[in-house]
Amino acid sequence: MIQQTLFAEDVTAVKNLYPPDSKREQIEDKFENLIHEELKLGSVVSYVGNKNVPFLRIYRYKEAFAFDFVMDFLRRFEVDSDDYVFDPFSGLGTTMFASMICGIPSVGIDKLPIAYFNSKTLPLFLLLAENELKGIWISLTPKIQKSKPADVAMDVPIMKIAFDEETLLTLRKLKSAIEDLSLPYRDIFLLLFFSILEECSFTSKDGQFLRLNRNKKTSSPIDAMNIKIAQVEEDVRRMKLFSSDISKNDNFMPDMYHGDTRDLSDIKFKKRPTIIITSPPYANRYDYTRTYALELCFHFVRNFEELKAVRFGILRSHIESKILKGEVPPHPVIKEVVEILGRKKLNNPKIPSMITTYFIDMQKVITEWFKVLAPGAKVAMVVDNVRFEGELIPVDLVLSEMAEEAGFEVKEIIVARYKGNSSQQMKKYGRVPVRESVVIWEK
Ligand SMILES: C[S@@+](CC[C@H](N)C(=O)[O-])C[C@H]1O[C@@H](n2cnc3c(N)ncnc32)[C@H](O)[C@@H]1O
Repeated sequence: MIQQTLFAEDVTAVKNLYPPDSKREQIEDKFENLIHEELKLGSVVSYVGNKNVPFLRIYRYKEAFAFDFVMDFLRRFEVDSDDYVFDPFSGLGTTMFASMICGIPSVGIDKLPIAYFNSKTLPLFLLLAENELKGIWISLTPKIQKSKPADVAMDVPIMKIAFDEETLLTLRKLKSAIEDLSLPYRDIFLLLFFSILEECSFTSKDGQFLRLNRNKKTSSPIDAMNIKIAQVEEDVRRMKLFSSDISKNDNFMPDMYHGDTRDLSDIKFKKRPTIIITSPPYANRYDYTRTYALELCFHFVRNFEELKAVRFGILRSHIESKILKGEVPPHPVIKEVVEILGRKKLNNPKIPSMITTYFIDMQKVITEWFKVLAPGAKVAMVVDNVRFEGELIPVDLVLSEMAEEAGFEVKEIIVARYKGNSSQQMKKYGRVPVRESVVIWEK
């Protein structure tokens, strides 16, 4: 098996990974010849690769992939301005942002309101002139203290403990002052506002949700905004050095939709997309509505009920996902894993349901993509394999087999990097490499 070459010390662990003659062993054998490593992609499948990229570095969307990842696949697929690039899980909008810079029309969809907002707003930064934002900030600052504090969803528990009182009040006033700005400045400033919430709070976006640390050193909102404005000004200058006037051409402004990629019937695509460059939520229990709770509570939901509606409206990749009566694992590998996990003592009994719902949703997603894509369209999708209680799920292969069933041809499974699962799992079951792959399909 492919991992053995990299982790020689783990040979036994890898060999023993799947039960003999298991469905997982069979699917590994089936796709073996299509799997190959390109470990240089490891540095661009995560947000870390955006550290120095103008504008994309401003808002820390931890689940994003890097600008260079998209650039690489635009090149590999020989994309040009006749193409229509689609990211059905748009997140920060990295795919659309890179496409726009290359003069390629694109379309994005995301179900999480903060992600939709950010991916719609980021391209507007390309329209800024030098010192434009700084000038607006200078005229805005004296108004902040006089502004009426904005309403926020204070009945959400995390909002009661995330900030000290004074910071919370300043943030609410700052938000009101920003809301009085005209477009596009209002949205540009709102994005900057969302980007400072984490550092002004006692929370950190790590792991599955927002972690609270009352001893954390926090920033003052005004200082944090000053730093963001200075970064944006630096980015405006850098962008002017190497970009032409592409941003001013309306054809290249991405089309953005707040929608659900499990059902694309209402999306009015300008034309059939020819390329997908994307990455879905991973089946790893992370809940976006918890990680981005502060942003959601400040602007997108009015109360806890509305927050929960967002939580239950996104792809069912997190532990609170609800399984419906009659829903069963949609693939033999998933059935096998769910049955094995059913016999084990799990640290969370909802894991088997989450795995089932994740693959049911992803099967719908893949079927929808096949319907809307142009003939010959290509898909590059980054996915992480996962492991629960020692049971590894080859997500890359299961989704590829589902893609085949939907009508796609599976061209390649490129291993971008190997990750360990949680440290508890490693301690208990040994260090077993888990693939993070880019699956390549063609319609
Ligand atoms: C891994 S992130 C994508 C990151 C993106 N590639 C980027 O560079 O920012 C997955 C995204 O899927 C979104 N999502 C979750 N459920 C969705 C659904 N049903 N339809 C569309 N997007 C959804 C999440 O909000 C999240 O932004």
